[in-house]
Amino acid sequence: MPLRKKLLHVPVFGELLRLLTELPYYAWWFFRCKLLGQRHPLQSVIFITDRCNLKCKHCNVVREGPYVSTMTYDEVREQLKFSYEAGSRIVDFEGGEPLLWRDRVRGADLNSLIDLAREIGFFSTTVTTNAQQPINIHPDLIWISIDGLEAEHDYQRGPGTFARAMKNIAESSHPNMNVNMTVTAHNWRDFPKVAELVKNHPKLNRLSFSFYVPYEDRGLIVPPEVRAEIIATAIALKQAGYPIMNSQAGMKLLRDPRSFADHRACWISNFVTSDGTRIMHCPGQDAGVCDECGFGMGPEMSLLFRLHPEMVLSGLKVRG
Ligand SMILES: C[S@@+](CC[C@H](N)C(=O)[O-])C[C@H]1O[C@@H](n2cnc3c(N)ncnc32)[C@H](O)[C@@H]1O
Ligand code: SF4
Repeated sequence: MPLRKKLLHVPVFGELLRLLTELPYYAWWFFRCKLLGQRHPLQSVIFITDRCNLKCKHCNVVREGPYVSTMTYDEVREQLKFSYEAGSRIVDFEGGEPLLWRDRVRGADLNSLIDLAREIGFFSTTVTTNAQQPINIHPDLIWISIDGLEAEHDYQRGPGTFARAMKNIAESSHPNMNVNMTVTAHNWRDFPKVAELVKNHPKLNRLSFSFYVPYEDRGLIVPPEVRAEIIATAIALKQAGYPIMNSQAGMKLLRDPRSFADHRACWISNFVTSDGTRIMHCPGQDAGVCDECGFGMGPEMSLLFRLHPEMVLSGLKVRG
């Protein structure tokens, strides 16, 4: 094992080496984008498949029937290299359900893609999952979608899905498992309960949340007054020590996505869909949903690009 890799495994050296490697890159990225006006992604969201084992009521990704597409190992490698060369250093493997991904010809699974991303040079790898399969993957950070306590989660995601997710979380030894809740017009009352669950769960670190984005069904849109109430609750919980990851400044902007329309920076993430389509900004822009956007990341990217101190600090903490 090369010396740099060995040192990365010693906690103090590992953290120091990471900072020494990564901070100059982030500074260079910021210089190019902010001062030279260039547009380079920092994070890539790769939809490795649109196949899924669930059919959630709010989901705008999953397709059925003959349209289902899954990338091969070689296709993912090509997209990772493209994204890396474009400037990205953080990759999130998404789907569909990424835990279902295999390339049987290559004998590859999701862990092979995580290793590949590291070999290419990505600083951080994340996976977003519904946790319906055993969680034996090794990205730096895992996002687990929990959309309420049992009744609400199962309403949105299907019977038995909450219990299965909880079992798989309990049995996983991954040290950096976090929850993402998508708040809808149906499940919003459960938000503080999910915050409580994450706070008290020995295996879960932090909670991030987004509001439902109306790509298709408008029935799940969270009304503005409820959105404001949830954000007030989230800020109060965060101030009381609950591990809520959205920054306070970001949550305030999220109250009304039009409030940061003139300084959106949604190009900080690039997206590759499972059929290989490359989109150099949030797909919501093309769908025309920006003014109703609920993605928690939207305001965070805008704040990051303005070097808001709270966002920069939480960005450093989030890195796996
Ligand atoms: C598309 S899923 C893919 C990963 C995995 N299958 C899962 O459920 O976590 C990724 C995240 O997007 C969220 N999501 C799906 N459709 C959405 C929508 N219309 N608005 C906001 N979030 C959405 C899901 O709740 C989930 O947390
Ligand atoms: S599990 Fe994820 S990808 Fe599958 S339907 Fe639900 S939100 Fe969509």
